[in-house]
Amino acid sequence: MKVTVIGAGTMGRGIAQVFAQAGNSVMLTDIYPKALEDAASNIRSSLERLSRKGEIKENIDIIMQRITSTQELSAGSDSDMFVEAVIEKVETKESLLGQISQIARRDAIIGTNTSSISINQLSSFVTYPERFIGIHFFNPVPVMKLVEIVKGERTPESLVRKTFEIVKALGKDPVISQDFPGFISNRVLMPMIREAILVLEEGIATKNDIDKTMKLGMNHPMGPLELADFIGLDVTLDIMEVLYHEYGDPRFKPPVTLRNLVNARKLGRKTNEGFYKY
Ligand code: CAA
Repeated sequence: MKVTVIGAGTMGRGIAQVFAQAGNSVMLTDIYPKALEDAASNIRSSLERLSRKGEIKENIDIIMQRITSTQELSAGSDSDMFVEAVIEKVETKESLLGQISQIARRDAIIGTNTSSISINQLSSFVTYPERFIGIHFFNPVPVMKLVEIVKGERTPESLVRKTFEIVKALGKDPVISQDFPGFISNRVLMPMIREAILVLEEGIATKNDIDKTMKLGMNHPMGPLELADFIGLDVTLDIMEVLYHEYGDPRFKPPVTLRNLVNARKLGRKTNEGFYKY
């Protein structure tokens, strides 16, 4: 299969890697050459890590050769599948999905890795929306087994089944969600992160003890505050805003502390400071 991944950020590069690892030919596109360069070296080091552990047997150079980096989206016009993994802004996705619609074959699958924007809303930017579906990966993509497949009103059952098989062939374990804000994962995760921030705000416990509680008491690999830093506090805030706006329910209301950190550009690991310093 030939797959075009649009956006070479954290998620896009991981998605490109897992498709290439599974033997697919991948076109990785981004408007920024630096993002493409960084993606290539990041994918190589991730593959080296997996190879050292014996999780991949194939030669790394052969996997890397399956990935072509380009700034030209049109280079992927003969793709069987497109996966959009650009920034979570409706306007950006609108313009991009319009461009993909123009170049994609009528029978190509157009997927979006959105974690919070409505699939139904995004489907209105795609011509022939019956080829459009949500395919939500988790960070770090090469490690996390889960993919949420999100079905919009206009997504046919046949496309859900086909996407399910494609995801399984990547060695991932998919779940299927209807198009409701936050799907399954963020609907459940965001109230937990929010509650952890409120426990901190109310002075009930230190950040270390809050995270320790969830790590040692519930066997989570990361505590909720550490995880928010890992996801990015800006992304966490964006997702909470969508949930709060769409459901109108205070259990999704972004806490002030989260907003303050984002306003101060303390966005978590990527800026070396969030709830913690890195
Ligand atoms: N490529 C390849 N291997 C990687 C990797 C990568 N990018 N990142 C980590 N690994 C591997 C490491 O090699 C290591 O392997 P071994 O244990 O076999 O040696 C393993 O993963 C663990 O890595 P580390 O030892 O470096 O660190 P860790 O034990 O702290 O694990 C982690 C890191 C996998 C990120 C773990 O902390 C974890 O699972 N955290 C939770 C992640 C999570 O919940 N992600 C979902 C976020 S939500 C999201 O993405 C969606 C959304 O919509 C917000």
